[in-house]
Amino acid sequence: MSQHDAAPTPTMRWHGDRLDLVDQTRLPHEAVMVPCPDAAAVGRAIKDMIVRGAPAIGVTAAYGLALAARDARALPREAALDALREAAVMLRATRPTAVNLFWAIERVLRAADGTAGDGDALMAAVTREAEDMAAEDVATNRTIGQLGAMIIPDGANVLTHCNAGALATVDYGTAVGVLRAAHEAGKNIHVWVDETRPYLQGARLTAWELQQANIPATLITDNMAGHFMARGRVQVVVTGADRIAANGDTANKIGTYTVAVLAAAHGIPFYIAAPVSTIDPAIADGSFIPIEERPPEEVTHFQGRPVAPLGMRAANPSFDVTPAELIAGIITERGILRPPYGPAIAALYAAKPGAAASRA
Ligand code: MRU
Repeated sequence: MSQHDAAPTPTMRWHGDRLDLVDQTRLPHEAVMVPCPDAAAVGRAIKDMIVRGAPAIGVTAAYGLALAARDARALPREAALDALREAAVMLRATRPTAVNLFWAIERVLRAADGTAGDGDALMAAVTREAEDMAAEDVATNRTIGQLGAMIIPDGANVLTHCNAGALATVDYGTAVGVLRAAHEAGKNIHVWVDETRPYLQGARLTAWELQQANIPATLITDNMAGHFMARGRVQVVVTGADRIAANGDTANKIGTYTVAVLAAAHGIPFYIAAPVSTIDPAIADGSFIPIEERPPEEVTHFQGRPVAPLGMRAANPSFDVTPAELIAGIITERGILRPPYGPAIAALYAAKPGAAASRA
C-alpha cells in the first residue's frame, strides 16, 4: 500500500487466528502489515512500537490474550486460565505509562474468569471481549469527535502534539478525531502539527493522517509552538492522553506539558481528548504515573545516524505530566469534563461503578 491508496491504512486487522498490525515504525513511507500469530508476537509489537498510542495498545493486548486463549483451548479450565494470566504478565510488561493497556488486560481477564467451562469456552469469551473492545473504541472515538468538535471555532488554527489519531486507536482517533469531526462538520480549520521529537509521531503519523483526510495542516518543530502562539496564530490546543489521574493531571507524550504551559501563557485553551478508559481513578495525582524511559539512542541519533558526540549521555522520558490546572477541558465519550476534575471524574465512576476497574 502507498500513502496515495484510496483505502485508509488500518491500524490493525483481526483475522480470528492472527492479528495484523500496520508497522508504524515504517510509516509514512511504507505501509506494511506485520502478522502477529501469537501473544508473544503481539507483546513484541507493542514493545517495539510497531503499534503505539494508548487505546491501540489496549485493544492490541486484548487480541494478544485472544491468541493466548486460542493456544490454550485444549487445556482444562484452570490450566487455560493460568496460561492467560501468564500472557497477561508478559503483555503488562511491554509499556508502563498508558493505562489503557492495563485496563484492557483486566477487562479481558475478568471476562475469562466470569465464563464457565473449559479452554474452548474461555477462548470464545476472550475473543468476543477483544472484538467488542475494538468496536467500542471506534464508536467512542466518534462520540469524542462529535463532542469535541463543538469547542473548535470555525476558522481556528488548532495545535496538536504527538499522534492521537486513527493510528493510535482502532480507527478515527481521539484528538485527531476531534479535528476530523470539526472538518467533517464543514468547519474551516487548519492544524499545526508538532513534529514530536524524538520519535516524530507528529511528523510521521499525524501529518500523514491529516494529509490523507485532506485537513489543512502545517508541520512545525516542537520549539516553534510558542512563536506561533505569540503571533496569535493558534486558537486552541487539543492533544490525546496516556493516563489521567483522579485529579485530572494528565500524562501524554513528552513535550505536551511544555505546550500546555505555553498555551496558558498566551491565554489559549488547552484540551485533552481521551476515552474514559484512559482515566486511572486509582492514582490520586500525576506524580504517581509511571513514566517510560526509552533508549538514549532515540535522542543521540536521527534515523540511525548520530547527531551528538559519540558516548554522550542522553535522557529520554517518553511522557510528561500536564497539571490539571492547565487543562481547559477533558473531552471524553461521556461528555466534556471541566475543572475541578476531582469531582467531575468521581461523578463518572459514581454513575457507572463498574467503570472503575482495578489497574496495574
Ligand atoms: O509513545 P506513543 O507513541 O505510544 O505515545 C502516544 C501518545 O502519547 C498519544 O498522544 C496518546 O497515547 C493518546 S493516543 C489516542
